[in-house]
Amino acid sequence: MTQLAHFFWKEWVEPGDILIDATCGNGQDLLVLVKLLKGKGQAIGYDIQKEAIDQSHAFLKNQLSQEEFSLVKLRHASHETFEETSAKLIVYNLGYLPRGNKMKTTATDSTLKSVQHACNLIVKGGAVSITCYPGHEEGGREEKALLDYVQKLSPSQWSILYNQWVNRKNSPSLLLLMKQ
Ligand SMILES: C[S@@+](CC[C@H](N)C(=O)[O-])C[C@H]1O[C@@H](n2cnc3c(N)ncnc32)[C@H](O)[C@@H]1O
Repeated sequence: MTQLAHFFWKEWVEPGDILIDATCGNGQDLLVLVKLLKGKGQAIGYDIQKEAIDQSHAFLKNQLSQEEFSLVKLRHASHETFEETSAKLIVYNLGYLPRGNKMKTTATDSTLKSVQHACNLIVKGGAVSITCYPGHEEGGREEKALLDYVQKLSPSQWSILYNQWVNRKNSPSLLLLMKQ
């Protein structure tokens, strides 16, 4: 699902865009986003864990040129509210950090609030990308709440794609909300 998400991001991102990683973790997805900007725009990462922000900072500083790194902003804050007023792409990789604290997982109420806010920030032609992990209890609740919410979004404003491996039970899914 990560590769599939990256495939779509490549289609959508253009130099100069404002991109947000709402769950930046170790910074792997943020690295992909920054590279797509080709030296122009902004890539902002949010995470509630200070360790995640510090790890992302060190990882990205090591992986990016000085020019590319200048496009990155890291915010040690919850994604329930974004400081930005618009964005081309907002991405979520829900759940907890691999090998990290499983108690610091994303949670249904705050994720839903965040995605509702994200939908208001996205410009026309932009998208929200959400990788869900229904294999754990809170992840299952989160995916269900998100599906309930997105199914009610206006079809004249949104095209919504739900990707799932049909032969793998409880495997990750990818929800793509494209604004027209
Ligand atoms: C699966 S990890 C993200 C992996 C990351 N995208 C990467 O490429 O390494 C989920 C992250 O969401 C963070 N998180 C949980 N609740 C959050 C919230 N309310 N706001 C922002 N980040 C949150 C966790 O701390 C964790 O680092």
